Amino acid sequence: MSVDSVTGTTSDVSPEQRAREEELLDRVLASFDGAPDARLKQIMRSAVQHLHAFLRDVRLTEDEWKQGIDFLTAVGHLTDERRQEFILLSDTLGVSMQTVAINNEAYADATEATVFGPFFMDDSPEVEIGGNISFGVAGEPCWLEGTVTAVDGTPLPGAKIEVWQADEHGFYDVQYGDDRVAARAHLFTDEQGRYSFWGITPTPYPIPHDGPVGRMLDAVGRSPMRASHLHFMVTAPGFRTLVTHIFVRGDELLDRDSVFGVKESLVKDFLEQAAGTPTPDGRELGARTWSQARFDIVLAPAEAKAQGPRPSPAPH
Ligand code: BEZ
Ligand code: FE
Repeated sequence: MSVDSVTGTTSDVSPEQRAREEELLDRVLASFDGAPDARLKQIMRSAVQHLHAFLRDVRLTEDEWKQGIDFLTAVGHLTDERRQEFILLSDTLGVSMQTVAINNEAYADATEATVFGPFFMDDSPEVEIGGNISFGVAGEPCWLEGTVTAVDGTPLPGAKIEVWQADEHGFYDVQYGDDRVAARAHLFTDEQGRYSFWGITPTPYPIPHDGPVGRMLDAVGRSPMRASHLHFMVTAPGFRTLVTHIFVRGDELLDRDSVFGVKESLVKDFLEQAAGTPTPDGRELGARTWSQARFDIVLAPAEAKAQGPRPSPAPH
């Protein structure tokens, strides 16, 4: 059996059956003819075309259709202000990363973007340069430092850096269900565009997998684990906002991150330091090991936006 990759039709479908399926698709597409918003019309037509191609490609059974409806219903039921199962679904299908790729085209040597994730919170505490964002969470201390510059190397003083990370047990503060705020903060670069802070050495953790998305991953033999990372969001007037992470070189999950967020340019050396090694700011860590990493951030200009939507193709 061969499958037409555009229409989803299979060669063992009779010409009569094929004509029936195409006639239905044509009628659905024509139903959008009167849409006053041209962009909405383009999106709806394209979505329907791809959805029908998928149905015809796999020759979806009615039982499978029902399973799909039940799955999406469960995703909806679990979603509320604290848990966004639809975004998790988008993340695990690579839809979030593809949208990031489309909207953050590579620009010169600007730092690459990656998936936002569900655990960013507004109103994080501010820390001074060299401050400690961990606020006592479990984990090995990690010194992070770097600069924020434009692509021509000009330092960007006053750039705002938001950072957030999971604790050593793999949980963000918001996942504890109390009001704690920890392992997240924001700080501003100094006159030379430099920043530094103490966090904890990132460790791997699973995305929430106690719901339908977790069951889907299980059913297809995929792991919910994310490669160890630390989230950044960097803003400066006149520059494209950067949402990204850094990953730990040597982490065995780098090539199977459950949300496809890893980019080689974002993998950094986290240098392990023996207990007793003097720290960059003189902090006393006693018998504890610590690590350090450098992340130099380069922002694209604000006008380096994604290309606008493509014009609609000729009507089907
Ligand atoms: C995270 O990195 O925090 C994350 C990203 C996508 C889905 C779940 C978690
Ligand atoms: Fe994360």
